[in-house]
Amino acid sequence: MSKDLTTYLKEKYKNNSLYFDEYMKDCLYSELGFFNTEVVRSSKEGDFLTSPEVSEYFGEIIANFINEKIHGGDIIEVGAGTGSLAQEIDRYVNKDLFLLESSSTALEILNQKNFITGEKPEIFSDKNIDIVYMNELLDNVPCSIGVNKENQWYEKIVNTEKEIFEYGLVEIRDENLEWIEKYNFKPIEGIELEIQLNSEKLLDNLINIFNPNHFLIFDYGYTYENRAEKPYTSLLRTYKEHHLSRDPLEGPGETDITYDVNFSFLEQYFKAKGYKVELMYQYNFLEKYGFDKIYKKLKDDYQKSSDIEKLKFKSQLVGLEAIHNERGLGGFYTIIAEKL
Ligand SMILES: C[S@@+](CC[C@H](N)C(=O)[O-])C[C@H]1O[C@@H](n2cnc3c(N)ncnc32)[C@H](O)[C@@H]1O
Repeated sequence: MSKDLTTYLKEKYKNNSLYFDEYMKDCLYSELGFFNTEVVRSSKEGDFLTSPEVSEYFGEIIANFINEKIHGGDIIEVGAGTGSLAQEIDRYVNKDLFLLESSSTALEILNQKNFITGEKPEIFSDKNIDIVYMNELLDNVPCSIGVNKENQWYEKIVNTEKEIFEYGLVEIRDENLEWIEKYNFKPIEGIELEIQLNSEKLLDNLINIFNPNHFLIFDYGYTYENRAEKPYTSLLRTYKEHHLSRDPLEGPGETDITYDVNFSFLEQYFKAKGYKVELMYQYNFLEKYGFDKIYKKLKDDYQKSSDIEKLKFKSQLVGLEAIHNERGLGGFYTIIAEKL
């Protein structure tokens, strides 16, 4: 698989270099890309587990949020993966739910489960969408990489000339420099900046088409004022079969390429678009929308149940604890953006 994508990239870019976000896009989403081959990646058989794959209560708690906030319209999930989260939302929310997914492998599964799906938001442009939510989507949106040297910003390219691809540095594109300046991300010595302009474009598109009242976003990430505390030059990493893997240039298409999402960017972005923003940890969100009640009921059910039933309740408790654990999935960030 890797060889095919390597050849494809060499031919497509005629042995020239490409910007890192172009490379990441092809590695993840081209026909031979990571998300379009083999299994749905966000599953037990795949390469990483997400909150909805770990606990069905993630969806039930999000449904509580939706039922509290929703007015007249319907709901969109962006990057629905296997549809585990959508199944729970659908069970508890009496509204239409539309799923966006760019992976053909995942789309096939979602269609088998009879969801209303589409690849691009434009196909639902006639719908009245009140709430847009997404879990672990933005960390997979191709980013550029800014490198600052002597107060000058450059960006990383991937050189496809040799058998093994190599990084290079070039003058930064204007729109990437504007993104850094707009969000006021000052250079930090020895640290690369993941430039999330493509995430901004994706959110712009959703707002232009649906103008939703709410966004609800979950992901791993950081706030920029705490960036220097993270002991890594780059926040990019790769995953394969539930383990951290190689450099993104090794084995194109074979690994997930992902990075910590910059929640300071998202906070500023939504404020500038006229939304009130609440930023919290995932465990805070879960507690705000019903964690305690569900946890207590599960514990009671566990105490009262027979030995065989105990196993089921135990596994549900373990899942719920995992999505709430602040050193694990519970330590992810949640952003709630509500139109003023
Ligand atoms: C890390 S997985 C998360 C899946 C699911 N949300 C979950 O929590 O299990 C990211 C998913 O987003 C999809 N995706 C990435 N960019 C997308 C886009 N622009 N529109 C729709 N889906 C996208 C990928 O194909 C992948 O299935």
